[in-house]
Amino acid sequence: MKMMLNIYCGCFAMRGMQDWEGDEMKKLYFGSNLKMYKTIRETAEYLGELAKRTKDIDRNEMELFIIPSYTSLAEAAKTVEPHLVKLGAQNMCWEEKGQFTGEISPLMLKELGIELVMVGHSERRHVFHESDEEENRKVRCVLEQGMKALLCIGETAKEKEYSTSAETLRTQLKVGLYKVSEKWIPDIRIAYEPVWSIGVNGTPASAGYAQRMHRMIKQTLIEVFGEAGGKIPVLYGGSVNLQNAEELIVQPDIDGLFVGRAAWDAEPFDRLIRRAMCAHRGRSC
Ligand code: 13P
Repeated sequence: MKMMLNIYCGCFAMRGMQDWEGDEMKKLYFGSNLKMYKTIRETAEYLGELAKRTKDIDRNEMELFIIPSYTSLAEAAKTVEPHLVKLGAQNMCWEEKGQFTGEISPLMLKELGIELVMVGHSERRHVFHESDEEENRKVRCVLEQGMKALLCIGETAKEKEYSTSAETLRTQLKVGLYKVSEKWIPDIRIAYEPVWSIGVNGTPASAGYAQRMHRMIKQTLIEVFGEAGGKIPVLYGGSVNLQNAEELIVQPDIDGLFVGRAAWDAEPFDRLIRRAMCAHRGRSC
C-alpha cells in the first residue's frame, strides 16, 4: 500500500523508488526522549526490558534509539548493546571545553560512547528560548565530532492558526542546517514535532496534516542539499500512541516515530513498534 502511495506521489515517486531499490521496505526509525523522567536505576531497567523485548526485530529493518537524562547515560551505556538500542543525549554545548557552567561537552558524550545528540527539542526552544542560530552551532558541532544529529523542528499553535507553519519549518531547517555540508547527510535525522501536539495538553496531528508537513520538509531538505537531501529520515513526534501509530507510519513521507509518554514503559512501546512495522508492511499483526 505504501509502495502504491509512493508511486502516485509526483516528484516523490522517484525518491521513494530509489529508497526501495532492491528492497521493498525502507528502514524505519523509532525513538523516545525520556525528558526529565526516570532515575538511573529506572532508566537501566527500562532499557534492559526494551532491548530484551525487541531483540528479535531485525535492526536492518528498524533503528531504535532512546534519549535518557544526562545522569543516566553512563549506566545506560553499560546496560544495552548499541546495535539493539542506540543512546542519545538530550542536548549539548557547541564547544569542546571552556567556561560554560551547566553545559555538557561533545567530548564528555563521546567518552560515554553516545552516538546521537538531539538538538532543538521544542522544550529547549520554547522553555529555554534557544534560537535557530544556537541549534545550528550545535548541529555542526555534533556532526564534526562524529556523532549523529537529531534536529527537532515544529510550529506553534499560533503559527498553524496563521497558516505560517511552512515558513516556520523552512526557517528552522534552513538556519538549523546552515553551512552543513552534504557529506553529513547520513548522520542527520529530523524530528517534526508540532509544538501544539506535544505532551499532556497536546493534540496529535492528523496523519494527513503530518504527511503534508513531512512532504514539505523533504522538499526543503532537497532544496538545501540537492536530491540526496531526500534520503534524510524524517520522524514524526507529538502524542504518538498505540492508536495513531499505524496511520502515521503508513504515510509515504514519514520515516519513523519519535515518542514521548507512550514509550516510557517497555511493553507498550514494543507493541507500538510492532504494530507500526506490521502496518508499514501492509500486514495485520
Ligand atoms: P509526547 O509523545 O509525550 O507528546 O512527547 C513527544 C516528544 O516531545 C518527544 O520528544
